[in-house]
Amino acid sequence: MGTLYFFFVLFFLSIELIPAADTITPTRFIRDGETLVSLRESFELGFFSPVNSTKRYLGIWYKKSPATVVWVANRNNPIIDRQGVLTIINNGNIVLLNKTKSIIWSSNTSRKVENPVAQLLDSGNLVLKDNFSEGSESYQWQSFDYPSDTLLPGMKLGWDLKTGVELYLTSWKSADDPSYGDFTYRLDIHVLPQIFTYNGSTKMARTGPWNGVFFGGVPKSPNFNFELNFVHDKNEIYYMYESFNNPVIMLTKITHSGFFQRLIWKERGSIWDVVVSAPNDLCEYYGKCSANGVCSVDKAPICECLQGFIPESQQNQTSPTRCVRSSPFDCRSGDRFIKLTGLKLPDLVDTSLNDTMSLQECESKCLKNCSCKAYANSIVSGGGRGCLMWSGDLIDIRKHVDEISGQDLYIRVRASEQVSDLNEYRRQKIIIAVLVISGILIFFSLLFCIWKKTTKKDEELKPKFKNREQAESEEKICYQVFDESSRRETKKQYKNL
Ligand SMILES: *[C@@H]1O[C@H](CO)[C@@H](O)[C@H](O)[C@H]1NC(C)=O
Ligand SMILES: *[C@@H]1O[C@H](CO)[C@@H](O)[C@H](O)[C@H]1NC(C)=O
Ligand SMILES: *[C@@H]1O[C@H](CO)[C@@H](O)[C@H](O)[C@H]1NC(C)=O
Ligand SMILES: *[C@@H]1O[C@H](CO)[C@@H](O)[C@H](O)[C@H]1NC(C)=O
Ligand SMILES: *[C@@H]1O[C@H](CO)[C@@H](O)[C@H](O)[C@H]1NC(C)=O
Ligand SMILES: *[C@@H]1O[C@H](CO)[C@@H](O)[C@H](O)[C@H]1NC(C)=O
Ligand SMILES: *[C@@H]1O[C@H](CO)[C@@H](O)[C@H](O)[C@H]1NC(C)=O
Ligand SMILES: *[C@@H]1O[C@H](CO)[C@@H](O)[C@H](O)[C@H]1NC(C)=O
Repeated sequence: MGTLYFFFVLFFLSIELIPAADTITPTRFIRDGETLVSLRESFELGFFSPVNSTKRYLGIWYKKSPATVVWVANRNNPIIDRQGVLTIINNGNIVLLNKTKSIIWSSNTSRKVENPVAQLLDSGNLVLKDNFSEGSESYQWQSFDYPSDTLLPGMKLGWDLKTGVELYLTSWKSADDPSYGDFTYRLDIHVLPQIFTYNGSTKMARTGPWNGVFFGGVPKSPNFNFELNFVHDKNEIYYMYESFNNPVIMLTKITHSGFFQRLIWKERGSIWDVVVSAPNDLCEYYGKCSANGVCSVDKAPICECLQGFIPESQQNQTSPTRCVRSSPFDCRSGDRFIKLTGLKLPDLVDTSLNDTMSLQECESKCLKNCSCKAYANSIVSGGGRGCLMWSGDLIDIRKHVDEISGQDLYIRVRASEQVSDLNEYRRQKIIIAVLVISGILIFFSLLFCIWKKTTKKDEELKPKFKNREQAESEEKICYQVFDESSRRETKKQYKNL
């Protein structure tokens, strides 16, 4: 009777444990069909099959949106039946086993844990920790260190500088196949941080360099309590975002077709709203225009050469040609720089950086070195400082419609170069303004002179109020307008006065 009662209690205890489960231990595992749910029911972990597929994967998805899988364990190694089990084995690792107890996937940590517990957190992070170090933030392993195609708030995208390990996103192969696809989304830390979307090993899209405040050249997106953190210290360099004051559920991901997207959950309607999707226009594709060209979506054609450069072959309208110097450089005879505004700075290829120099120092250093083609501030805050110098071709420049996210670039031209420092657009504006104003002036002069001619007779009858000079200058204007030949005479008369 005593033992029966004991089993009875144990039975109820175990029932009570199941609904709240967000952890697995060496003795508590989950089978296909069972799931872990995080404490506040944000995320769920379990087995799933993508649409149109019967293969089984271990994944994490939103409890509210089970189709939105944010992490997959066995991406390239699916289980073919519904006999998979997730557990912790005695070396302290989380493992995914198939029917024949072969290891399909493992958390792969070498650190031995006394009392291992794996827990699904409300951030969407699956962590492996020691139950005795309760509350400690040090995990033996965490899924956030192995991103799939989705960057959740609090996840890092970047580099561990000590180990050289890079955290980046890799797209799914297709909508029904979570295996590693062609597109990656990663932080390049070559000279200054820039974010690239790669198609295989080819650069497909790029943000401008990190300028101390934001990644240049990225259109300003609506903020939605959204905070971007950029961390650079001696141990690591990464970018992360957080949705603070947090009613907003959001994620960013790289889709299987290569788009970087930011999605926000709409409680009403229970749907995801795509608030950012890039590339969003032709100019966002890397190197859309040739080297030393500028891409502007509001122009036709969208590509033109930088000032001081001309298309290499002018006939070829079909494909963007290389832009070459309009006249060869002669460093000794003197060069100068012209300022171009509102640009996404060129890719940091053949670029050097000194982050303490002022803009003036940067200019004189660039001027002294014949191989320096262009320079710009590296940091925009506090009026701007730091010096970026390009010595090769200038690649992937775009002109911005909203000038806020654009920066200034100074490019080297010959001192004798017949280029205006003004942007063509502004120059056109000024020409139009001048034409309009002179048109108005001529029109009123004409009116005045016609009025004067018609009233001349009446005027002669009236007493003369005007002094002679005023009258004569009026005459002069009218002669200028009406009569070229008498104009010379007027001049003469004037001289004689
Ligand atoms: C699933 O298959 C149907 C029919 O073949 C197709 O129309 C649909 O696009 C597929 N869905 C996905 C996500 O591949
Ligand atoms: C389990 O996995 C192993 C290794 O991948 C494989 O050889 C075996 O066929 C799998 N068993 C089942 C039932 O899928
Ligand atoms: C697991 O660890 C081994 C040895 O440390 C390493 O070679 C392998 O790449 C790791 N696998 C994963 C998925 O991290
Ligand atoms: C962790 O340890 C405490 C006591 O040390 C125990 O009550 C609790 O059940 C353990 N948690 C897990 C998930 O094993
Ligand atoms: C990615 O590269 C492949 C092969 O290089 C190409 O066929 C495909 O069109 C590219 N995709 C995109 C979106 O650029
Ligand atoms: C124009 O561009 C096409 C495609 O790149 C190329 O095949 C052709 O030779 C070019 N023609 C000229 C005149 O440069
Ligand atoms: C950067 O420029 C400053 C001022 O010209 C100079 O003192 C410093 O040595 C430079 N740093 C590097 C790494 O070149
Ligand atoms: C000029 O610039 C090139 C490329 O950045 C560099 O290799 C070279 O050392 C520089 N020369 C001088 C004199 O600073």
